[in-house]
Amino acid sequence: MKKIIITGGNGLVGRYLNSVFEKKKYKIFSFSKEEMNTTDRETCYKIFKEIRPDIVIHLAALTDVDFCEKNPEIAYKVNSEGTKNISEISSYFNSFIIYLSTDFVFDGKKGTPYTEKDEPNPINVYGKSKLKGEEFILSNCLKEKFLIIRTSRIFGKNGKSFGSKLPLIMKEKKEIFLTTDIINSPTYVLELANSIKKLIEKYFYGIINICNNNWCSWYEFGIKMKEILKSEIKIKGITFEEYGKIFNVYAKRPKFSALSIDLLNSLNIKMRPWEKSLKIFLNKDLKIWEKDAINSIRKGDIYEKS
Ligand SMILES: NC(=O)c1ccc[n+]([C@@H]2O[C@H](COP(=O)([O-])OP(=O)(O)OC[C@H]3O[C@@H](n4cnc5c(N)ncnc54)[C@H](OP(=O)(O)O)[C@@H]3O)[C@@H](O)[C@H]2O)c1
Repeated sequence: MKKIIITGGNGLVGRYLNSVFEKKKYKIFSFSKEEMNTTDRETCYKIFKEIRPDIVIHLAALTDVDFCEKNPEIAYKVNSEGTKNISEISSYFNSFIIYLSTDFVFDGKKGTPYTEKDEPNPINVYGKSKLKGEEFILSNCLKEKFLIIRTSRIFGKNGKSFGSKLPLIMKEKKEIFLTTDIINSPTYVLELANSIKKLIEKYFYGIINICNNNWCSWYEFGIKMKEILKSEIKIKGITFEEYGKIFNVYAKRPKFSALSIDLLNSLNIKMRPWEKSLKIFLNKDLKIWEKDAINSIRKGDIYEKS
């Protein structure tokens, strides 16, 4: 029986991860921010000492890119220092650590999908703080004791990411603006969670990208969603510059940060094209229209955050 600690367990990825591990083979200890704040080193240490996990899946992060830009101290404290704590404690207890990183560690200038060998060069605080987290993992953990997963634009049921909320926005609004010039790879959280499990079972370590096949702008993503939902919403495509002025967006985004999943495919872990996964999410997975999410949309929370 493998013991797994999940940090940031109440978030989108954490909730799905909880459901993919068989109870016979794994014992999951999933912690919310309130139960284990990763910036509180002493509490983290005590929890690790008690559980002595084989594996740690470190998800805890501030994921609102514009909040991070406006509050760099908090972003670095959680995304970088929190990861320093968790990586040091994991190393001390000889646990294997999995850290979820992001396509936002890249500047978006390459023009073709980023591979695991490409040099990061983040252009916003979120990306910089997550890259610092990667660096702490690299310096604190033995090479066969960590896995850094770079993923992007995750969507799934009850998530607070923009891709997760977009179906609800389409139910609520008559018209929406979406950007045409920020392009990356959507990732369906259920496939991400299953791939993480497969990588654990293959004892894979190092750095790897996970996302759905291919890439798109938010505008293309929205148009596909509208078609699947048969929604009446009017979608207006605008540039990121125009969008920033309307929604007070602070952080720059990489223009093209699609991720190559050739390495993942070479391990025989296949991801669907994003359009197919979006269809599965909307037609099969997304049955509940979350009241909280609808309320936050009514309050005006309708812009692209990550
Ligand atoms: N969402 C994406 O599109 C995306 C893309 C690339 C990479 N990632 C990475 O994937 C991971 C999981 O993302 P997600 O989509 O599941 O994000 P999420 O839904 O925002 O979940 C993150 C969780 O971390 C918690 N948290 C925040 N500060 C914490 C702290 N100091 N200690 C402990 N927990 C804390 C949050 O709690 P509160 O909500 O209460 O603050 C939240 O439950 C993150 O590391 C993120 O950087 C996400």
